[in-house]
Amino acid sequence: MKRIAENLYQSQLDFPFGKKEGEPFCRSAAYLLVTLSGNTLFYSSKYIEGDFDFILKKGGLSFQMLNHRHESSPYSDKVLEKFNAPLICHHLEAKEVAKECKVGQTISGGEVFGNIQAIHTPGHCPGSTCFFVEQDNGENILFSGDTFYPCEGQWRVTIFDGKQEEMIHSLKKIRELEVSFVVPSLYAGYPDFEKFEARDRYRYVIDECISRLEKGERH
Ligand SMILES: [Fe+2]
Repeated sequence: MKRIAENLYQSQLDFPFGKKEGEPFCRSAAYLLVTLSGNTLFYSSKYIEGDFDFILKKGGLSFQMLNHRHESSPYSDKVLEKFNAPLICHHLEAKEVAKECKVGQTISGGEVFGNIQAIHTPGHCPGSTCFFVEQDNGENILFSGDTFYPCEGQWRVTIFDGKQEEMIHSLKKIRELEVSFVVPSLYAGYPDFEKFEARDRYRYVIDECISRLEKGERH
């Protein structure tokens, strides 16, 4: 796995919709967060078995967390078998997720796992859930799934099976957090990720998304 921040590692990138040179292509990955209270894997990856030794060296795994149904895959069951780490997702996503893999625990938002806080953010899917991690080093991470992600240098949202008003409400919720690093499950184009060095920058890009939604756009 590749270290992308303190305590945070990215699996090998996948290109779920293929890759054409010269065109912006989507990339996805799973992420390992190493914490004193236990390690957590966010999202899923078809390459994750190749990371098992690495995860073991980092102390194993306590939980797997999904933002929403599109991240579900049979590879989560392989992780469960290896590390006995239950998969956690929102109860409104559980039925769809269970078509691909075992759901170990459902949440409804507001739960806390060590320093990880679950925040229900419907809009992309009914049970979309962001995970906010407050770290001692001040580099707070938001695992945003497909709720909020970079595409060709612009942060955006996609309403898939949700409503505009729900998405606006969700964005207003995460806007209040002190976030320096947003880790989506899917992203396209370059640059890869953006660290929000200035506090206002994070709020500014969320406000841009809200204003597009208020104009009736769905992205
Ligand atoms: Fe999605």
